[in-house]
Amino acid sequence: MATIYSTSPLFPDLVCRMEASGHSVVVNERWPDLATLEVADALISLLSNVVDAQMIEAHGTRLQVIANVAVGFENVDLNAARAAGILVTNTPDVLTESTADHAFALLLSCARRIAESDAAVRRGEFPAWGLDQAFTGLDIHGKTLGIIGMGRIGTAVARRGRLGFGMRVVYNTRTRKPEVEQELGAEWLSMENLLACSDFVVLLVPLTSETRHLIDRERLGLMKRTGILVNVSRGAVVDETALAVALREGRIAGAGLDVFEQEPKVHPDLLGLHEHVTLSPHIASATHETRYAMAQLAVENVLAVLEGKPPLTPVA
Ligand code: DGY
Repeated sequence: MATIYSTSPLFPDLVCRMEASGHSVVVNERWPDLATLEVADALISLLSNVVDAQMIEAHGTRLQVIANVAVGFENVDLNAARAAGILVTNTPDVLTESTADHAFALLLSCARRIAESDAAVRRGEFPAWGLDQAFTGLDIHGKTLGIIGMGRIGTAVARRGRLGFGMRVVYNTRTRKPEVEQELGAEWLSMENLLACSDFVVLLVPLTSETRHLIDRERLGLMKRTGILVNVSRGAVVDETALAVALREGRIAGAGLDVFEQEPKVHPDLLGLHEHVTLSPHIASATHETRYAMAQLAVENVLAVLEGKPPLTPVA
């Protein structure tokens, strides 16, 4: 019988599934609880749980698998896990469509000023209908959608833009994606050209040493003044201070952000900006269906490893 340490309450049927397989499940939301870690054979962790080398080496000696409930896994020290013979898994695919939906929700909210006009109506304001009406926004249909990072989620965002809104899709990745070019007529552009010609720039790259502050003052300066930046990847892909300055000075029109450099803190300068700005608290994958699917995949990964089988979605 193995002990599975989950840092978050799980859906009851998933707990039953693990118990029915003969394992004991310890749900302990205090992270890191080293006493629990020391007796755990498997860990089901969240992005907010930093699993570092010291913890793995000193307290993870029984661990066989770390199943991160997220597609990202920058919270886990992969080298330390590998050195200790611990498998690490993530939850790709199951969150692709929901995350793409949310990227589009932010894009629409920024362009059509949904969040700020909702707040105004609730304050009792109802601006008179007029040709220069308050909350006049920007069209989305027929515009150019620039996607940086054309992986699974990028492709799903591109489909929404092309097939749903008749947008021209341009993209930048290290390797070109002929299948996306064929399916959606997407055009590969250099980063500089993409930033210069896109009306909406959506960031979908993982956070690595190469992508940290990928969008900095200089690159923000290449965007159109009417351009909107959407980030559903990782906060640190954008230099938030530079972004706040660019928004305040009108060098770009707006930003839709689901992720932040210092979560759960949000840069105070961003909090003060409303026009064409929508902020959400890292909820791109947060639908009931998707969060269940993520938890289920993490559990299946754990059970596979504990049964001596290869995990379904190991981290490369
Ligand atoms: C992920 O899975 O990496 C997402 O950011 C979580 O919502």
